[in-house]
Amino acid sequence: MSPSHPSLVPQPSHCKRLDGTDFVLTAECIIVADPIFKITAQLLAARLCAATSWPLRIATPGEAGEAISRIEFQPAKADSTNPEAYTLKVTAAGVLITASSPAGAFYGCQTLLQLFPPAVFSQALRPDFVLTAPSVEIEDAPRFRWRGVMVDSSRFYQPIEALKKYIDLLSQHKLNVFHWHLVDDQGWRLEIKKYPRLTAIGSKRRETIRGHGTNAFGGDGVPVEGFYTQDEVRELVAYATERHVQILPEIEMPGHVQSAIAAYPEYGLLPEAKPVSCIWGIHETLYNVKPETFAFLKDVLTEVMALFPFEYLHIGGDEAIKPQWEKDPATQARIRELGLKDEHELQSWFIRQIEAFLTQHGRKLVGWDEILEGGLAKSATVMSWRGIEGAVESAKHGNDAIMCPNPFVYFDHYQSEITNEPLCIGGNSPLDKVHGYEPIPAELTSEQARHIIGVQGQLWTEYIPTPGRLEYMSFPRVCALAEVAWCPRERPDFAHFFQRLRTHLRRLDCQDVRYRAPLEYLSS
Ligand code: ACM
Repeated sequence: MSPSHPSLVPQPSHCKRLDGTDFVLTAECIIVADPIFKITAQLLAARLCAATSWPLRIATPGEAGEAISRIEFQPAKADSTNPEAYTLKVTAAGVLITASSPAGAFYGCQTLLQLFPPAVFSQALRPDFVLTAPSVEIEDAPRFRWRGVMVDSSRFYQPIEALKKYIDLLSQHKLNVFHWHLVDDQGWRLEIKKYPRLTAIGSKRRETIRGHGTNAFGGDGVPVEGFYTQDEVRELVAYATERHVQILPEIEMPGHVQSAIAAYPEYGLLPEAKPVSCIWGIHETLYNVKPETFAFLKDVLTEVMALFPFEYLHIGGDEAIKPQWEKDPATQARIRELGLKDEHELQSWFIRQIEAFLTQHGRKLVGWDEILEGGLAKSATVMSWRGIEGAVESAKHGNDAIMCPNPFVYFDHYQSEITNEPLCIGGNSPLDKVHGYEPIPAELTSEQARHIIGVQGQLWTEYIPTPGRLEYMSFPRVCALAEVAWCPRERPDFAHFFQRLRTHLRRLDCQDVRYRAPLEYLSS
């Protein structure tokens, strides 16, 4: 890019190039931080030390003295309306970041890192390399407060270290929610102390179907297993919290639960439970609606709430087809006893029981848009994935919604029409389509549009068996998502983004991110 436009992703709201020479980082530079910004100052010092081997000193304003060169974090004046906003000023004399909250300071710091050459993201800098940043003045704040990515750890398990790297990358893009899909028919991945069979049995499957379809090429014969211990979860939550990423756990119900029922058949509907599934697609296995099953779910959610401090908790709710409820006499009797019309109303009743429990514990329920069917729970937040209709209906109801629509932000889809892409679930969500996505549905009034709290990308992992493939499917589409979620509605166009992306990919190279090179746009 031209020097007047540093290659920042996402593009800040206001960025002005100043006259004057660049800031040059030296070993004498001091990081000056008000105590509320200490963690961000430490993360910055650690990054700069990894790249330069200089252990830069961190000082409070009182301790700093007349340092010649400083990167300073200052609390912003109280009139700041967006807690995630920041300002950043770089001159030859130093760097000043102001923010009214630690999150704002963290985002100012991410922008500063992108002003340095991409090599600042390396583990080691060549001795002849100088870290300079252009003189600029930036004012910036996010458009949406929910800027998320969902990763499915049920279909394939990713080691904690891979997830830390992933969360770090999300935070560099100023994304702030990691939605963690921990439960599905093909694996239960979260340790629950009161129900050890959930992981002893539910986290293991015999093999995985090859190719598309349910039995086209048979199974691969390779067992899949793995789960996250509660200690590992606490470690990941702490890691994400320092980077201003909230972790949203998803515990599916009443469908997508064959792994749970394989472990505890008494909570299901068949005399003999099916094993943890080795095939993809929608399954019939549901929880039954007996009091013992709700007691089990509340026990599970109690442990989940103790692990995850985020005020939101996701209970799934998608694709719960109803044949097992239709055929089960006890379930039919319960529908009549409760005065409900059908199985859809029973699902709605089911979700309301769970919502009441979460509300009692100060948590907010999130579900996929099927939770609208049969009546929406009062305070539920809806993830609109089958298009945008779920969000439109929720917003008109006065419920919050998050835009997750297939295909725009389904990153398990293909990224191009090129035929030698690795096998995917299907569809096509190329980079320019992601970047061009506008999350606010046109049919909403401005009052209703206030209920659209954000946007989120989805990575279902049926065809994403390794962390490397997860990076390939995520990047650079997550970079485009970051612009949709962060930038004002009138954001720079795709050509502008792509120019900046060329530099940005070098930042990802320095971190060994195995992204897909978007070569088909090079000529544009
Ligand atoms: C979904 O893609 N089943 C939410």
